Amino acid sequence: MRELYQDYCTAYQLTNDNSHGFFDVVGPLYYSEEVQSLQQYEQHLEINRLQHITSVAYVAYRVCQRLGLDAAAAARAATMHDLFYYDWRDGETGRWHKLHGYKHPHYAAMNAKELYPALTKKEEDIIRRHMWPLTLRLPNSREGFVVSLSDKYCAARELIFSTSKRYKERFARDLKAIGTAAERD
Ligand SMILES: [Fe+2]
Ligand SMILES: [Fe+2]
Repeated sequence: MRELYQDYCTAYQLTNDNSHGFFDVVGPLYYSEEVQSLQQYEQHLEINRLQHITSVAYVAYRVCQRLGLDAAAAARAATMHDLFYYDWRDGETGRWHKLHGYKHPHYAAMNAKELYPALTKKEEDIIRRHMWPLTLRLPNSREGFVVSLSDKYCAARELIFSTSKRYKERFARDLKAIGTAAERD
């Protein structure tokens, strides 16, 4: 769990030097206008969607690396797992937002195919099933489970961050400590 939390913290200050190759596998995709535009949307209260997908993608990438799984596929799919261009709390754009939890994996998969035509079946499945167990179908791959669980882990931390002053202060200290340790290395 400690490594998981360290990876989560690192995701807030990712650079080429500390990313363990993350940007090599997601590079142009991550910096595309479409993915970068996600920073305008709130995802979990104080955390925007770009930061959320960065955290999920990096945590899933590192977990898959440690487990000897396809880390590149997990990183790419996770970078696009919430690729939808609207605020799901916006009541004015249609009542289907009420079913957002069920529907957005489909929208994300459609947008991912458009943005990244080389998307594999496995990556598409990871995106489509990341809301498991809310959407009942199990992910088809081990990488899919890792992304789905990383999503929940990051979402939980993001919600706690947004609602607990104490957690926020501790998180700021931990970020600083990890940044300082990286500078020493
Ligand atoms: Fe999602
Ligand atoms: Fe998500």
